[in-house]
Amino acid sequence: MRVVFLAPIYPPEMLQYTRGLAEVGAEVYGVGDTPREALPEVVRPYLHDYLQVPRILAEDDVMDRVTAWLRGKSVDRVLSNWEPTVILAARLRERWGMPGMSVDAVRGFRDKQLMKERVRAAGLRVPRSRRVKTEAEMRAAAEEIGYPLVLKPIAGAGSADTYRVDDAKQLDETIPKMRGVTEASCEEYVRGEEFTFDTVSIQGKPAFENVAAYLPKPLEARSEEWISPVIITVRDLAQPKLQGGLELGRKVLSALGMGDGFTHMEWFLTPKGEAVFGEIGCRPGGAHLVDQMNYTCDIDLFREWARVACFGKFEAPTTRKYNAGIVFKRALGKGRITRITGLGDWLRACDPWVVEEKLLRPGTPRRNWRHTLLSDGHVLVRHPDWDEAYRMSFLAATGIKMYAE
Ligand SMILES: Nc1ncnc2c1ncn2[C@@H]1O[C@H](COP(=O)(O)OP(=O)(O)OP(=O)(O)O)[C@@H](O)[C@H]1O
Ligand SMILES: [Mg+2]
Repeated sequence: MRVVFLAPIYPPEMLQYTRGLAEVGAEVYGVGDTPREALPEVVRPYLHDYLQVPRILAEDDVMDRVTAWLRGKSVDRVLSNWEPTVILAARLRERWGMPGMSVDAVRGFRDKQLMKERVRAAGLRVPRSRRVKTEAEMRAAAEEIGYPLVLKPIAGAGSADTYRVDDAKQLDETIPKMRGVTEASCEEYVRGEEFTFDTVSIQGKPAFENVAAYLPKPLEARSEEWISPVIITVRDLAQPKLQGGLELGRKVLSALGMGDGFTHMEWFLTPKGEAVFGEIGCRPGGAHLVDQMNYTCDIDLFREWARVACFGKFEAPTTRKYNAGIVFKRALGKGRITRITGLGDWLRACDPWVVEEKLLRPGTPRRNWRHTLLSDGHVLVRHPDWDEAYRMSFLAATGIKMYAE
């Protein structure tokens, strides 16, 4: 099984998928713009070969180079788990006439407006929205959709350039901030709780399912620096509250023509109990969500995904044992981390349920919390009971403090 895997080491969690592919027996041909000399030691044994390209996002150039590189070899799969290269993977598959999702199907997972149109056409509940390019279009869309509304890029990630707009005055303030965005989506703001729906799917049918709760919603977590964002995977997927979201999620996969692999969807649960579609990608969630799912079931989804992508089989047990909560911390102040307080107490209070403690150490420069949810590191804790997992997660959110002063 010869697999071309795009971006095999960046972002860093891609190393794990590269490992997974090698472990299920694939010969991995990595393509990325990381210099060959800079490939981490740990990934080298898993890469059969590697092509360094000048820019991984220059799709036409990469297609030509990879085609020349592999001339004369038969390739079985072209895969990517990184949002910016999922279309490129599909284009390569089409060029070489290979199995896997088409460019058109992948576009439904990448273009937020197209995605919503397709999901809506399947009769599912989607926020009302308009595709807007100019200031005039933004104003017209706001008029039509009403407040509160959300303005966000059509191909966004990490809640970048995403704004909640409550009235006409805020619209005036927000429009200049959208100048760097070529195409935006203007949509109805959906109130309520926000969850993920994650799967590893085989021909669009989930072999593995997950729901995680965002506490608070990503848009709020990204607006206030003092917040320690918490995300907890939900152990009990059978509870009535989640059924609407699970059904919505499964139908979205069929509506968009999902094939094999990871999906990561976000959805809202309104105060009235209605499940509303947010967005979906045909790739795994980032920011350690796959680690959280692994801790939830004590499995290795990096490898299981590879088994699905290569052989159409999922072999890990899917019994959910824990609610796994991750808590991202942000230091107070600028520059380098100077000290951490409350960590020892928290670790003692939550023993033996803590599974990871990866806060940046004193001396390390702070990460930009606006650019990455990873912020200044995280702790991860799990417990069979939801209330306990919730309590211990929020104990970390409030009790652990980091300083950069
Ligand atoms: N219509 C909406 N109603 C309410 N909240 C919304 C809406 N659209 C977006 N949001 C909020 O903004 C966040 C970011 O939006 P979205 O997920 O579409 O963008 P993104 O940049 O791809 O996000 P990420 O990469 O962080 O998942 C959502 O998680 C949600 O909290
Ligand atoms: Mg999102």
